[in-house]
Amino acid sequence: MKVVITTSELRPLLAKKSSPKTRVLVPTMGSLHEGHLALIHRARKIARAEGVVILSLFVNPTQFDQADDLRHYPRALEQDLALCKKHGVDIVFAPESGDIYHSDHSVTVTESSLSQRLCGASRPGHFDGVCTVVLKLFNLTQPDVAIFGKKDYQQLVIIRRMVRDLNIPICIEGVETVREKNGLALSSRNQRLSEQQHSDAQRIRSALLAAQTAHQQGEKSAQSLLNTIRKIIESSELDVEIDYLELLDQDNLKPIETLSSPSIIATAVFYGPVRLIDNIELD
Ligand code: PAJ
Repeated sequence: MKVVITTSELRPLLAKKSSPKTRVLVPTMGSLHEGHLALIHRARKIARAEGVVILSLFVNPTQFDQADDLRHYPRALEQDLALCKKHGVDIVFAPESGDIYHSDHSVTVTESSLSQRLCGASRPGHFDGVCTVVLKLFNLTQPDVAIFGKKDYQQLVIIRRMVRDLNIPICIEGVETVREKNGLALSSRNQRLSEQQHSDAQRIRSALLAAQTAHQQGEKSAQSLLNTIRKIIESSELDVEIDYLELLDQDNLKPIETLSSPSIIATAVFYGPVRLIDNIELD
């Protein structure tokens, strides 16, 4: 496994793009957990033994709207590198911020529709930061395929839209959310929950599953499905607050009142200051 820190070191390694070997990129911000490892495994499978799996490890400053959030973002470089080696990554790209962003950078990618809702509504500029860095990583590594998790569903849909709208010749693969045994979606934020909050937070998954069951039994009203979820989450005795809870079309993230097309229920829930997101697809 090669570890590359600068963009100039990366260039000669990836120069021969005419090669038929599949090149797969897994963009991350590090602090890797089983969720990220599932992305690496998918990448390895797509690239096969002869292809190249690149994992980027970069805590992207432009997608943080709060300086504090950026400062406190967990970093675990040595552990991440060991995991990458163990799980078959070929190249880790771990650049410094100054090598990715010029001090006077002035061009940004803006997605102006899908990013207005859900996480974008409470985090202005977040998805511009995500799109901009992801496009940079695409340009720097020129992969055939890039892998993203369905846990960040809105991010995945926005990246797909960017690839479509900017004619980027890269195939985007979505990977199912990896969960703890109790159903809680794995996230680096889970470390910030108390033991009690951590065990209580499984109700988010239970609530989404209850709605899925109701849907399978014929319930088509968004309001009724969302009420089922709201009741379960809000019956917690802890300091729990729903930031958003919406039923949306899977492709354009427009709200749906009566289910007919493939949909998704997406939610963000505050446990004290810790904001957890999760979703479930209703096909
Ligand atoms: P990060 O939060 O590190 O996540 C990297 C990738 O791992 C994302 O595609 C995310 O959806 C996926 N992921 C996280 N938790 C997961 C889980 N429990 N199951 C499956 N996949 C999971 O998302 C980002 O970084 C950044 O925004 C990035 C795309 C790297 C741009 O900076």
